[in-house]
Formats: sequence, structure tokens, C-alpha cells
Amino acid sequence: MPQLMINGQSYYSDSPPDTPLLWAIREDLRLTGTKYGCGLGLCGSCTVHINGRAQRSCLIPLADVPEGALITTIEGLHPSHDHAVQRAWVELQVPQCGYCQSGQIMQAASLLTRAPNPTEEQIVEAMDGNLCRCATYSRIVNAVKRAGEILREGLKNG
Ligand code: FES
Ligand code: FES
Repeated sequence: MPQLMINGQSYYSDSPPDTPLLWAIREDLRLTGTKYGCGLGLCGSCTVHINGRAQRSCLIPLADVPEGALITTIEGLHPSHDHAVQRAWVELQVPQCGYCQSGQIMQAASLLTRAPNPTEEQIVEAMDGNLCRCATYSRIVNAVKRAGEILREGLKNG
């Protein structure tokens, strides 16, 4: 029975080891912020962090989740949903239907951990695999820039 560490809590999933992590997150654990889009690694709506890096949870069987890996879903990104990326998303009113947005936010948060002051080119490249049927792309790029500013302001102010 795979043990998963998600959002700082330990869970047991009794699903078979070839079950995609996304299924365990949504169906077993009822963390439904992570969305099912394509199931093929092509849309990014299922993006979570594994040890801080954005990963497509639809592509990872439970058996391949590294032992002790720290998994973060949108529900656990910030205790009061006030991560710099979430603040920027609200400030710039990014979502339209919203379906893709938790994946977008998780992807953006992972980018900013590695590159707190990304160029537009880096943003476009990092976000390229996260599709949005509502075409919120230009707001996403601006919001990632704004989230970087918020993060850097926070660091400056201690
Ligand atoms: S549902 Fe995982 S990439 Fe589309
Ligand atoms: S906001 Fe609708 S799919 Fe992205």
C-alpha cells in the first residue's frame, strides 16, 4: 500500500501501484484542486510539485513516486492560499473558466523557486506545456512577472 506525503500529511492509498498519482490525489484523497485534462502529459492541468519541482501527476504511477517524496498540490501551496503566485493571479484576475489554473499556478511557483526574476523568454518556455483553452496566456505571463516582484519585495522586507 503506497504511503504518500502530500501537503505535509502522510496518506495511504490502497490503489494498485500502476495507478497514476493524479487518481490517488483526486479519487482516494479527494484533493480535487488538481485537475484531469488529457491524462497524457500534454496539458499541464494535473501539475503538482514533487520535491519542489513541477511534475505531471497523470504520468506518474504510484510505484514511481520516490520513497519519502514531498508532494505538494494546489491545496498545500500556501497555508492561507496566499502564495506570491496566488496573490498575483488574483491581482491580475488571470482565470477565466479556471480549469487549467491550479496547474498554471503550480508550474509558475516551481519556476520562481528556480528563477525568482525570470525573463519573459524563461516564463514562456517554462509555461509552454500548460495549456489554457480560454487563452489567458498574456495575463499568465504578466502575473508570473508580478509574482516574482512580490517574492523579491518580500525578501527585501525580510
Ligand atoms: S492531465 Fe496531466 S498533462 Fe494533461
Ligand atoms: S482559464 Fe479556462 S482553460 Fe484556462
